[in-house]
Amino acid sequence: MIEATGLRKSYRSRHRRKVTIVEAVRGVDFSVQRGEIFGFLGPNGAGKSTTLRMLATLLRPDSGDATIAGADLRLDPGQVRKRIGFVAQTSGTYGHSTGRRDLVLEARMYGVSKSTAETLAEGVIAAFQLQEFVDRQIQTYSGGQRRRLDVALGVIHSPQVIFLDEPTAGLDPPSRARMWQEVRRLRDQGMTIFLTTHYLDEADTLCDRISIIDAGLIVAEGTPSVLKREISGDVVVVDLAAPDTAGAPEPATILEASKILTEQPYVESCETIEHTLRLYVDSAATAIPQVMRALSGKGIEPGAIEIRRPSLDDVFLAKTGRTLDD
Ligand SMILES: Nc1ncnc2c1ncn2[C@@H]1O[C@H](COP(=O)(O)OP(=O)(O)O)[C@@H](O)[C@H]1O
Ligand SMILES: [Mg+2]
Repeated sequence: MIEATGLRKSYRSRHRRKVTIVEAVRGVDFSVQRGEIFGFLGPNGAGKSTTLRMLATLLRPDSGDATIAGADLRLDPGQVRKRIGFVAQTSGTYGHSTGRRDLVLEARMYGVSKSTAETLAEGVIAAFQLQEFVDRQIQTYSGGQRRRLDVALGVIHSPQVIFLDEPTAGLDPPSRARMWQEVRRLRDQGMTIFLTTHYLDEADTLCDRISIIDAGLIVAEGTPSVLKREISGDVVVVDLAAPDTAGAPEPATILEASKILTEQPYVESCETIEHTLRLYVDSAATAIPQVMRALSGKGIEPGAIEIRRPSLDDVFLAKTGRTLDD
């Protein structure tokens, strides 16, 4: 449904005669299958919105090509626009209008009659269950209600592909769960969904397949479970802050513990995150007693040791050397 090759985009900005160039997207390739929820996972500034805006014909790529729902992005942007829906990161709706009025207006922009537009609006109002607030002024909506209206606006013309830029950013957990339900419902109706997110759990539980994007490049691609399986073995998290002392451990202690553990033959790699050490090992069961011995040999007593299955954050860390939260 979407095939992109070598998409690139730099921004030039000028401030007091000084020109700066930001390479926002540095050549990305991906393909999205029909009926799939595909996610772009990455930290702020990774290039997610820029990529989405290029695919939605809102921004001209510097180079690269894409076809979307069979239409060529460069040669036939008008056809692309007809076949897609786009929901921006920041809501375009606000103020005194009502949800219903905006929905009818949006539908009319696709050239249908007033009565057809009203019927289409009625359809998405029912599907997204907007009845209880759709006739109120939009400025009175909660964040979750506004986001549901945004998505309803984006799909009112039944596009084949919908682009959602951070559909749940800033929403409370119940509203996020609600939005996930809506996204799954669209997929189950046969729509193809391309969304961006900086939430690990969203990528993990909602997306059928993801690409991890960092600094304008895709660093990993696959289903969440395959990506996690790539990080073989277990993750052992050693917390050096003792539970019975209020203060964090000395930086020198953290450094020493990290040095000792990095040298252990059974430790594949060791990352320091504040006062915890994340160890990648074959088997946590056999590693933990050895970790304890190695540390206590140097007089270091960890406050807690935890075993975790690898998460998408571990995948991100392995590919970039940073955590997504950084
Ligand atoms: N209009 C613009 N002018 C200059 N730089 C921009 C502009 N839009 C985005 N950028 C920069 O491009 C990079 C990618 O931004 P963006 O695509 O919005 O990332 P994301 O959506 O992943 O947070 C960032 O460094 C951002 O500051
Ligand atoms: Mg963005």
